[in-house]
Amino acid sequence: MHPHIWYPYTQAKTAPEPLKVKAARGVWLELENGHRIIDCISSWWVNLHGHAHPKIAEAIYRQAQQLEQVIFAGFTHDPAEQLAEQLVKKLPNSLTRIFFSDNGSTAVEIALKMAYQYWQNQDQKRTTFIAFAGAYHGDTFGSMAVGERSIFSQVFADLLFDVEFVPFPATYLDDHQVFEKEDYSISIIKNKLSQSCDRYAGIIIEPLIQGAGGMRMCRPEFIQQLHQLAQQFDTLLIADEVMTGFGRTGDWFACVKSHIEPDIICLSKGLTGGFLPLAVTGCAEKVYSAFYSDDPMKTLYHGHSYTANPLGCAAALASLELMTEYEPSFRNMEITHQQHFDRLREHPKLEKLRVLGTIAAMDIVTSDQPGYLNQVALEVRKKAIDRGLLLRPLGNVLYLMPPYCITDEELALVYQGIEAIL
Ligand SMILES: Cc1ncc(COP(=O)(O)O)c(C=O)c1O
Repeated sequence: MHPHIWYPYTQAKTAPEPLKVKAARGVWLELENGHRIIDCISSWWVNLHGHAHPKIAEAIYRQAQQLEQVIFAGFTHDPAEQLAEQLVKKLPNSLTRIFFSDNGSTAVEIALKMAYQYWQNQDQKRTTFIAFAGAYHGDTFGSMAVGERSIFSQVFADLLFDVEFVPFPATYLDDHQVFEKEDYSISIIKNKLSQSCDRYAGIIIEPLIQGAGGMRMCRPEFIQQLHQLAQQFDTLLIADEVMTGFGRTGDWFACVKSHIEPDIICLSKGLTGGFLPLAVTGCAEKVYSAFYSDDPMKTLYHGHSYTANPLGCAAALASLELMTEYEPSFRNMEITHQQHFDRLREHPKLEKLRVLGTIAAMDIVTSDQPGYLNQVALEVRKKAIDRGLLLRPLGNVLYLMPPYCITDEELALVYQGIEAIL
């Protein structure tokens, strides 16, 4: 380990030495020792178009020569305005206002503050959020509070505000219980809302797929039912699309794929195509209107030093252009995953195979407790590197989330590697 760096999610005493990356291009990472590996998970789920895409690099370079950074209160700039306009065009129709920040946790933090203050500004005190068992929304205090108490957050449990968790109807191929799971979850949520809907500031969900909680997928029909309940009982629906946004689920956004219009959306990760940290919290006009007032106390007093950084906005604009140009690549990847699944389906070491757009996931059968600390994760990680693959299972959950530029041949190599590792 480097003598001066404290690495994230890493127990320095026992963790293997981190691998030094010298360069990256497309789906390939090149290590210091010359070993080349395919980035099967788009690093931390960010590199939509692969690494070092020249169009995004060029856009950042051009912007850096023009305006690299400026305070975003009392000042504005073209890249932020253009990005807000482009995003609103692609987002569900309900979402018309864009608030900038710089990482996924913060986008969630802002969503929670928006929802909470939305009711306060209308003289209603609603202090409770509904969230889903198994959820992960980030590592800051608010985002931890609405996430499952896990090894990431357990130690801080006393400091986290109370949230009511409801079951998430996770499903997979050949799941015969999915309807019962959905009915059960919906009935619990309905029960809560119908008993005292004026307690709830909002419901937060990772639509269609819970990421860090184990790539747990649910059906669009469930998301639709949830949306209907939020509308019927007049609470806000917050879609945390930090991971699912920008094509990951095979459509531009999971909400678009599910045909719902949430009140608030959180976006980050793929926003800049993996080049720079940037995030947005988008909201509906009705949310924005509740803050629009002569009363200074109705202002959303939130901001960050690098809010709407022009370089990040320029990268995001270039990334959106690439997404439009290569739309079939994220729309069609599901079919390719499915073709490989046809072979893996009967594998004795795998269960609960599932695929959604560009994301494929499966549970490795193991005698250890499932969960993040399952030892199989470390074994697979190591064997994958030897075979030229970057895989980072979440405990016994093995998943792929490749950049959209991966070729069919490269994806075939990835699946061959997985079979060999298993
Ligand atoms: C759904 C979701 N929300 C929020 C976050 C937090 O994002 P960040 O790591 O950028 O803070 C993540 C990160 O994995 C995520 O998957």
